[in-house]
Amino acid sequence: MWGEAVRIEGLELISFRNYTRLALSLPGSLHLFLGGNGQGKTNLLEAIYLVATGRSMRAGRDEEMIRWGAPQAEVRLEAESLRGRYELQVVLTPRGKRAYVNGNWVRRLGELLEYLSAVLFVPDDLHLVKGGPEARRRYLDGQLVQALPAYREALAKFQRILRQRNRLLDRIGQGEGSAGSLEVWDAAFVEEASRVIHRRALAVEALSPLAAEAHQRVAGSKELSLRYRPYFLEETEDEAPTSLDVIRERVEASLREARPLELRRGTSLVGPQRDDLEMTLDGRSARRFASQGEQRTVVLACKIAELELMASYLGEYPVLLLDDVLSELDPVRQAAFVEVAMGRTQTLVTSTEATSLPAGLREQGRSYRVRAGQIQPEEEALRDGSVGG
Ligand SMILES: Nc1ncnc2c1ncn2[C@@H]1O[C@H](COP(=O)(O)OP(=O)(O)OP(=O)(O)O)[C@@H](O)[C@H]1O
Ligand SMILES: [Mg+2]
Repeated sequence: MWGEAVRIEGLELISFRNYTRLALSLPGSLHLFLGGNGQGKTNLLEAIYLVATGRSMRAGRDEEMIRWGAPQAEVRLEAESLRGRYELQVVLTPRGKRAYVNGNWVRRLGELLEYLSAVLFVPDDLHLVKGGPEARRRYLDGQLVQALPAYREALAKFQRILRQRNRLLDRIGQGEGSAGSLEVWDAAFVEEASRVIHRRALAVEALSPLAAEAHQRVAGSKELSLRYRPYFLEETEDEAPTSLDVIRERVEASLREARPLELRRGTSLVGPQRDDLEMTLDGRSARRFASQGEQRTVVLACKIAELELMASYLGEYPVLLLDDVLSELDPVRQAAFVEVAMGRTQTLVTSTEATSLPAGLREQGRSYRVRAGQIQPEEEALRDGSVGG
């Protein structure tokens, strides 16, 4: 089955990381990028992620992505989706970055998120279960900001309000501001915090059965369940409310209650910046009890669910970017994952060795050799290699 799916058709890099110049066309649905350590595999996916989301998944500062010694970097990508055909471009300079869609400057970088939707799976994601709640919030937010423009706006607004509210609390703590001025921010805080929590609650409600099903397919035995735990949920409560009105009341009440302590500490102590996503296997916390292999399966199921949820929100499958993760999975998990992705999405896979990838993948995909910032189709690379001795 090849339903609706976003497809990258071509990619051009200029002075991006270790690529001086790269022009790559990507016909077809499966592409395997093979190469040793430090050759440019992750950099390639980072470039795609950059035009998809407006930011890198790993660079602390955008400037780091400019090739050392070069004045600026550029990533240009052509894709086709339900929106039609479009060209995305990001230019990085030491003074900042600019994005263009079809040659037109995009005023707000966040708008880029409305074009190329992508699901990225990197080895770091394997900490999703064991890591802190921040990783799980990032998991939720990452898919929601791409799939729901309204969520993106609410989250951006909330973060702005949170920063301003924190600044004010800090000033009050130093005896500079008045507690009365806090009220203006509180109203806005309640509104945007509630919207964020509401969207997250609905998303997890949809994600949980998708993850459970994927988990069933990959692992068989135990039942995976995802539960959203907004910060205000009591220990004894099982389910997060999904009604916006109820959420608003809870946020308001928590804010009232926290106020004396917030004033003393000089910072916000409540809000969706403290939410978590609980994962259980047969009703027991995966974070506390799952074995290593079980954790991997849970993460895998979460990633498949992400792909499916985004497809249901968007009406088409996002591009799937797998950075060196398949080789970390055993053959059973590899096969299950590949089965889900194949035929539905355009998938770009990187790996250090072809032999660690499932044979079916190698046969059906196009393989490329990545070497020192250059990419060649595998056949050519082999030919050149043998000529060169
Ligand atoms: N701004 C930059 N300019 C030039 N080279 C850079 C820049 N940033 C990173 N590099 C280099 O790019 C190289 C390739 O990095 P990349 O992360 O893509 O490797 P990789 O192929 O994914 O390797 P691994 O298999 O170890 O993950 C690294 O050796 C790094 O030093
Ligand atoms: Mg890498």
